[in-house]
Amino acid sequence: ERQRHIRNFSIVAHIDHGKSTLADRILEMTDTVSKREMQDQLLDTMDLERERGITIKLNAVELHYKAKDGETYIFHLIDTPGHVDFSYEVSRSLAACEGAVLVVDATQGVEAQTLANVYLALDDDLEILPVINKIDLPSAQPDKVKEQIENDIGLDASDADLISAKTGLGVDKVLEDIVNKIPAPDGDLEKPLKALIFDSVYDDYRGVVLSVRIKEGTVKPGDKILLMNSGAKYEVTEVGVNSPKPLKRDMLIAGDVGYITASIKDIQDTRVGDTVTNADNPTDEPLAGYREMSPMVYSGLYPTDNAKYNDLREALEKLKLNDAALEFEPETSQALGFGFRCGFLGLLHMDVIQERLEREFNLELITTAPSVTYDVELTDGSHVAVTNPAEMPETTMIKQINEPYVRAEIMVPNDYVGAVMELCQRKRGQFVTMEYLDDNRVNVIYQMPLAEIIFDFFDKLKSSTRGYASLDYELDGTQPSELAKIDILLNGDRVDALSFISHKEFAEKRARSIVEKLKKIIPRQNFEIPIQAAIGAKIIARTNIKAYRKDVTARIHTGDPDRRAKLLDKQKRGKKRMKALGKVEVPQQAFMAVLKTD
Ligand code: GTP
Repeated sequence: ERQRHIRNFSIVAHIDHGKSTLADRILEMTDTVSKREMQDQLLDTMDLERERGITIKLNAVELHYKAKDGETYIFHLIDTPGHVDFSYEVSRSLAACEGAVLVVDATQGVEAQTLANVYLALDDDLEILPVINKIDLPSAQPDKVKEQIENDIGLDASDADLISAKTGLGVDKVLEDIVNKIPAPDGDLEKPLKALIFDSVYDDYRGVVLSVRIKEGTVKPGDKILLMNSGAKYEVTEVGVNSPKPLKRDMLIAGDVGYITASIKDIQDTRVGDTVTNADNPTDEPLAGYREMSPMVYSGLYPTDNAKYNDLREALEKLKLNDAALEFEPETSQALGFGFRCGFLGLLHMDVIQERLEREFNLELITTAPSVTYDVELTDGSHVAVTNPAEMPETTMIKQINEPYVRAEIMVPNDYVGAVMELCQRKRGQFVTMEYLDDNRVNVIYQMPLAEIIFDFFDKLKSSTRGYASLDYELDGTQPSELAKIDILLNGDRVDALSFISHKEFAEKRARSIVEKLKKIIPRQNFEIPIQAAIGAKIIARTNIKAYRKDVTARIHTGDPDRRAKLLDKQKRGKKRMKALGKVEVPQQAFMAVLKTD
């Protein structure tokens, strides 16, 4: 009976189309949170999310909705991120749902991530409810967007709700549609427990808190459970739902989305995607779980204080709990000491992890420039995977380097096709094809080196199309490439953490631009510091940081006490992020210098 009244759904959308705003309205209209408690974008709990205004981690809440038919329904709403880096999180939340509300911005129309999300939802056989948002804006073109939804996606959009998540207009219809169009979950209550772990977090008091979707059976405190993949067994201490605060329940049943705690202290035991079952009467077959996500970029993370190495390891282990796509293994650098080589889905993911480590775990880190994984074929015929440029074998040992490529789909209005193609060409792209979606929009498809895409391609794409282009990409094999490792020498010493890989054609230009950049970033000292870039023993670019003269520092003072305090504070903070390399003090920015060059 309870099951018949459950609706499990996600909201999916291209970034900024208004998912979180719609989620807020739904929370408000179901009285899940009182108006007083209502904070914009309540579901975005991480500080970082609120500051950046983007959703990163999925969140699940239970709400109660009294429908027009007079009955009360239990909604489990799972919010999902929209950025291309986090599509993995989206597929995780969708696996816990029967339906998805697809939000499309009436002023922007269907974009690359709209399509990508729809494909994910279709993979899971979800019922998709298209809604057209932001119709309060004068530039809204709901009819045109309806047409796009029908043509590009092949969904019937004739009944699509026209809403303004901002003002609340039309959101009541969305709630009714959720009741009437998204199926109730099925799943036999009498069968052994079968629950999918779609997220988990570590709590100092309760141990690991598992977010689960119960597919079959029931679970209650005292039950003995088995985590099928790891083989670990525990006794359940508490079950409940988030509403949005944790709310204890006597039992969770098939169809529910909630949490389980079982005094799990060993975080290695819990894997997102694993199946929870009864220890005494296990189910025969685990759930399909998730596709393994492989990181796209790697970079080195080093504590500025080497004594914090173990703290960093612990922090990474805890973050990995609810971020299965994060990978890390120990590495050492002559320049930076002991740290970890970490794998990320993209640069935004990398940024987010670095910031979470610093904020939530109080660590100060130096991050080295990101690199993709190169497949290096040696002269003896063997292959090595190189994710750290410093570990690239000697040129004499290399037969060939293969670099990862992606298939990039760029959706763009006609007028900007030229600009997009020029950009792709400049980034070593190979044209594949071009599809006209309607008389104004084109899907341009290129094969491109991943290394060119992950750095600043997205920003460049946005700026060269006035924000109109949207991008989606997936890995598409490797291709042999003329690449070289470029070393940076400071004061005559090679700094392993500054080495990078470049296409030979751009090597000299990039090397020159980087030594110039380092010259600006690295503070002057009381002696002259030569900066050189080299391929093997051959120096390809050089410059010098001049020694400072007294009067330069003497002039740094300002009358305004506020400004002065700020300056001092900034200097203090900046200083923390310095790393002494030999006699030279190098700030964090220096390690990222290689990113921002053409
Ligand atoms: P991510 O969580 O980062 O993927 O974005 P999102 O899809 O959740 O978008 P969000 O809800 O943060 O909305 C993006 C912007 O659009 C915000 O500035 C909202 O205030 C605005 N917005 C959302 N819905 C509406 C609407 O109906 N009308 C208008 N005018 N603005 C809206």
